[in-house]
Amino acid sequence: MPNSISEDASTEIAVRKPDASDNGMISVVAALADPAIIITQDNSVMTANVAALRIFPALRAGESLLFGLRDPDVFAALELLRRDYQIKDIEFNRRIPDDFTYHLRLAPLAQGDVLMVFQDLSERRRIERMRVDFVANASHELRTPLAALMGFIETLEGPARDDAAARARFLGVMREQTKRMSRLVDDLLSLSRLEARTAAAQMHPVDLVGLIREVIDVLNMLAVENEVKISFRTELDRAIVSGVRDDLFRVIENLVENAIRHGKSNGRVAVSLSHKLRAPHTLSGTRAENMLALEVADDGPGIAENHIPRLTERFYRVDSDKGQARVGTGLGLSIVKHIISRHQGRLDIESKLGEGSRFTVLLSQAQT
Ligand SMILES: Nc1ncnc2c1ncn2[C@@H]1O[C@H](COP(=O)(O)OP(=O)(O)OP(=O)(O)O)[C@@H](O)[C@H]1O
Ligand SMILES: [Mg+2]
Repeated sequence: MPNSISEDASTEIAVRKPDASDNGMISVVAALADPAIIITQDNSVMTANVAALRIFPALRAGESLLFGLRDPDVFAALELLRRDYQIKDIEFNRRIPDDFTYHLRLAPLAQGDVLMVFQDLSERRRIERMRVDFVANASHELRTPLAALMGFIETLEGPARDDAAARARFLGVMREQTKRMSRLVDDLLSLSRLEARTAAAQMHPVDLVGLIREVIDVLNMLAVENEVKISFRTELDRAIVSGVRDDLFRVIENLVENAIRHGKSNGRVAVSLSHKLRAPHTLSGTRAENMLALEVADDGPGIAENHIPRLTERFYRVDSDKGQARVGTGLGLSIVKHIISRHQGRLDIESKLGEGSRFTVLLSQAQT
């Protein structure tokens, strides 16, 4: 009778004492992290590991491979392999029930058995696509201000050569475009620095109360320009976290700046800081953790629900009716998210169209 390979059974196989009857092949397959199957001469399944069962749940030991995996390319490759006993590599795509792409290697074993090992290509493809998009986005962002600069330079060399008033005006615009480009390059650099930083950066005690006040001072000008009022409320005198001061500064700066620039003019930005207990995690201990919750809330136009999960992607911006000049490059929140996860913290975004947005950063309080 065919015995079904449930996940339990495969775990059993994985921990079973090696025995000589299958030359250890079942243990080897069970130990592989990638999906792997061994089939016998008649294409029936000898063993499949947990990872293989996850993608082909219908596989059963002793039954035909066909019950779990129907791809004609696989069977064609098997047929070839049984003729020349050479390793075969094919790409294996499946659309249903989910869309994925695997690289499949078929290798001949003794007695006509065949080892099939799958390697997930979807993740690699996704990363490749992200890299291509990233370069395209970055170049696109630089091209617009560069084209504008080029246009102004030509005008200044030609028609506006002797026009002092035009010259002053154009230089002003050129300065703005240049600032925009250098901001973009700064953001790109700090993103790549954050990503490249493999070793944990030096963490020091940082007082969030003082840091928030500093950020508000720095952004005061921008708030005045946008006719926005910033308030800061907390009952804490000091709130110490262990972190990288400059990075945490950027987090708060980005969030408050967003609230000002993407909020409404004549609006209010409310920053607050409070204690929060994080419920104990069942696996990691029984003590509740002391957290600090930093909130930045505005009464601006808000963000539609479907955009919220994507806000921290690089270059992701929500189309707004505000003029292009006021819109940024869409890198701010991806930097924020990076820094927060470096600090083992969490970012929550809540928003309601027409009512405003609230960004909450949770960081664990340092033991002092
Ligand atoms: N407080 C907010 N209210 C409404 N929309 C917001 C708010 N904060 C962010 N957003 C939306 O999220 C998008 C992404 O924000 P992010 O900070 O990553 O980029 P940005 O502000 O456009 O540019 P950058 O920060 O790089 O200058 C913004 O373009 C905006 O559409
Ligand atoms: Mg921003």
